[in-house]
Amino acid sequence: MTDDPGTNASPEDWLSWTTGRQRLASDPARTVWVSANAGSGKTHVLTQRVVRLLLAGARPSAILCLTYTKAAASEMSNRVFARLAEWAVLPEAALAAEIAEIEGVRPDALKIAVARRLFAHALETPGGLKIQTIHAFCESLLHRFPLEANVAGHFSVLDDVAAATLLADARRQLLTATASREDPALSEAFQTVLEIADDSGLEKLLGEIVSARHAIRPFLEEARRNDGLEAQLRAAYGFAPDAGAETIAAEVWPLAGLEDLAQLVGIARDDGGSRAAGFADHLQSAVEASDAVSRFSALESAF
Ligand SMILES: Nc1ncnc2c1ncn2[C@@H]1O[C@H](COP(=O)(O)OP(=O)(O)O)[C@@H](O)[C@H]1O
Ligand SMILES: [Mg+2]
Repeated sequence: MTDDPGTNASPEDWLSWTTGRQRLASDPARTVWVSANAGSGKTHVLTQRVVRLLLAGARPSAILCLTYTKAAASEMSNRVFARLAEWAVLPEAALAAEIAEIEGVRPDALKIAVARRLFAHALETPGGLKIQTIHAFCESLLHRFPLEANVAGHFSVLDDVAAATLLADARRQLLTATASREDPALSEAFQTVLEIADDSGLEKLLGEIVSARHAIRPFLEEARRNDGLEAQLRAAYGFAPDAGAETIAAEVWPLAGLEDLAQLVGIARDDGGSRAAGFADHLQSAVEASDAVSRFSALESAF
């Protein structure tokens, strides 16, 4: 901030500077972005902004405050209603002084009367003042526009515990369905996965699939519409449509930057320790491999 009171200013100077900045930030006629340290008065400014909006005649149902946590939403709500409740019973002069403090001008009799009724007004208005978490707000939007959002009309939102239970159930169903061979394709796919990964690997894979489902589903649909999953995967990894394991494995040889491999293997065996020698053995068996696929697996064990 360039126009702050400076390091030599008194606490009173800082306080009145802060109050001035807060008055600017809570002016409902301005569009404002506030970023400040914890405890510096952000919630205070927001509360003040809501109160000033109401004072300026905004309908309570036209105000929407979104927070990230439930705790923050109830704190906001408590502060707004505490302030309004206080105003309902404050002596005339004290109320006038409070309004003057936040608005920067002395209120007339009409404004004071309005301020006194705000509490009742905010409570009575149908729809009321909306101070809620962004999650709750999104949920209410989805409930209101289920067709547009393409969701079931009477959905409810899962909490983490219920979601974990449902997922465990689904996983069990998947395992028993494949065991009973009701679905040969699924069962075969399952066997392949189990060969590559063990049980814990399978758990991890399922977990990753579930958490990435919003990306995976459109990918699968896209693949189905185009040339199918295999073609999409080949394209993504840069493999030619007709390339087999042999062709793909052959592409890694000779290793870039290791064209003098025989010499390097010699150096590693003569001058390196046991780890270097072991590495050299793997490389040597890659050199001697009779075909690309076995060379590739020799390289895999080396690196
Ligand atoms: N101008 C002010 N006058 C009096 N108290 C203030 C003022 N600004 C902030 N406060 C008080 O300072 C404390 C911290 O403010 P708060 O709005 O909760 O900060 P933040 O949301 O940035 O963490 C609260 O008790 C609040 O009432
Ligand atoms: Mg806060």
